[in-house]
Amino acid sequence: MSRYMINGGNRLDGEIKIQGSKNAALPIMAACVLNGAKTILHNVPDIQDVRIMKKILTSIGCKIKTETNTLIIDSSMINSAKVSEQLVSRMRSSIMLMGALVAKLKHAHFSYPGGCDIGLRPIDIHLKALKQLGANITEEHGYIIVDGKDLHAADIVLNYPSVGATENIILASVMTKGVTSIANAAKEPEIIDLQNFLNSLGARVYGAGSNTVYVEGVDRLCEGEYTIMADRIAAGTYMCATHICSGKVFLRGCSLENIKSPYYKLIESGLKVKVYADGIQCISAKDIQSIDSIVTLPYPGFPTDLQPLFVAMLCYANGISIINETVFESRYRFTTQLLRMGANIKIEGRTAIIAGVNKLEGATVYAHDLRGGAALTIAALGAQGSSTVEDIHHIRRGYENFIGVLQNVGADIKYIN
Ligand code: EPZ
Repeated sequence: MSRYMINGGNRLDGEIKIQGSKNAALPIMAACVLNGAKTILHNVPDIQDVRIMKKILTSIGCKIKTETNTLIIDSSMINSAKVSEQLVSRMRSSIMLMGALVAKLKHAHFSYPGGCDIGLRPIDIHLKALKQLGANITEEHGYIIVDGKDLHAADIVLNYPSVGATENIILASVMTKGVTSIANAAKEPEIIDLQNFLNSLGARVYGAGSNTVYVEGVDRLCEGEYTIMADRIAAGTYMCATHICSGKVFLRGCSLENIKSPYYKLIESGLKVKVYADGIQCISAKDIQSIDSIVTLPYPGFPTDLQPLFVAMLCYANGISIINETVFESRYRFTTQLLRMGANIKIEGRTAIIAGVNKLEGATVYAHDLRGGAALTIAALGAQGSSTVEDIHHIRRGYENFIGVLQNVGADIKYIN
C-alpha cells in the first residue's frame, strides 16, 4: 500500500488554492442524472471519491468528459437504475444517487452501503423518508429495491438532521408534482450549494440552510453549468496544519462564511486570521492554546469532519482540551496512532481529553479513514524526526493533491508507492 514519508519540523509558508468541496460535488454529480441532458461542472475536486462517482454514473449510462477540474456529464443515455455492490461498497455516499434515480427512472436498485471506520452509518432516515414520498421499498439478499412509480409530495420531519437524507429527499422530490417539505433538515452549506445548482437547472427548491426545505416539483430540468463551492473542511485542515507548523499561509478561494464555528476555536487556540476578498491569511507563532470545550454538532455547530484535525493540533497545545463527538459513534480510532507519536489523549466514550505535550516524536502510523489519516499527516508535520503514514488511499479520497499542496508551502513530505 502507498505511504507518506515525512520529516517534521518545517515551518509552512506560502499560498494554498482551496479545492472544490467533496461534499458538495458528490450530491451535485448525483443530481446530474435528473435533467437527461448535458451539465458542465467547474471546480470539481480531483479526488478518489469523485472518480468513483464518475464510475458509478458511467455504469448506469452517463457519458462523462473530464478536463482537469471541469466535468461534462451527459445523462441523456441513462439505461440502468442498478448500482453495483462493488461500487457502492467503495463509497457509501453513493446512496444519495438513490433519490435521483427514483425521481428520474422511478426505480433504484442498490446494495446496502456498508458502514465505515467512523460508525455504522445506517440509512433508516433515508428509507423512511422515501416511503413517506410513496416509494415502495423491498430489501433482499443485501440489496435495496426502490419502486418510485407512485411518488407523491409529502411533509417530512427528520428525527435527525441527516445531511445525506436531506439531499436524497430533495433529489427524489425535485420532479414530483406538488410541494414536499423537509422539517428538521440539515443546514450544511453543501445543501445550499445543491439547492443553487438544482435551481440553475430550473428546479424550485427553497429554504436550504434553514430548518425547513421546500421542494416544488417541476416537469423537467434543463441542461446547465455550475461552479462547486470551496471545500470548507479542506480549508480548516490547512488552518490546523499552519498552526501546528507555526506558519504563514494564505488560503485562496475560501471565506470564513462556512467555517465560523471552527474559526472561533482556532482564534481561541492562538491562530491569527486576516480576511481578504479572495481568501484568508493564517499566521501562527506556534503558541497553541488549549481549548476548554469543543462539541461536534450538525451545522452551524462545530463540524465533526474537523474533529480529528483539531485533536492533532491540540496534541501540541499548552494545557488540556476536551472534545465531545456527538455525530459519529466511533470517530476516535485515529487517536491510537497519535499515542504512538507520544500524544497524551484519553478517550472516555464520545469524549476525548487531550493533554498537550511539548513535542511529538516521528513514528510509523496507519490511516484508517479520510479525516483521521489527514490528522496523522499534519501531526507528523510538527513532530520531531521522521514519520511514515501508511494506507494513505484513505486520504486521497477527499484531499486533492494533498502532498503537492503541503510540499508547495514547505513541508518535507514524500509519496512512496
Ligand atoms: C455527510 O455524511 C458527509 N459526507 C460526512 O463527511 C459528514 O461527516 C456528515 O455528513 C455529517 O456532517 C458527505 O456529504 C459525502 P449524516 P452523511 O447522514 O450524510 C446518522 C467526510 O469526512 N444517520 O448527517 O452520511 C449517522 O450514522 C464525511 O467528508 C442515521 O442514523 O452524514 C451519523 O451518526 C465523513 N440514519 C449521523 O446520523 C440515517 O439514515 C450523521 O449522519 C442517516 C444518518
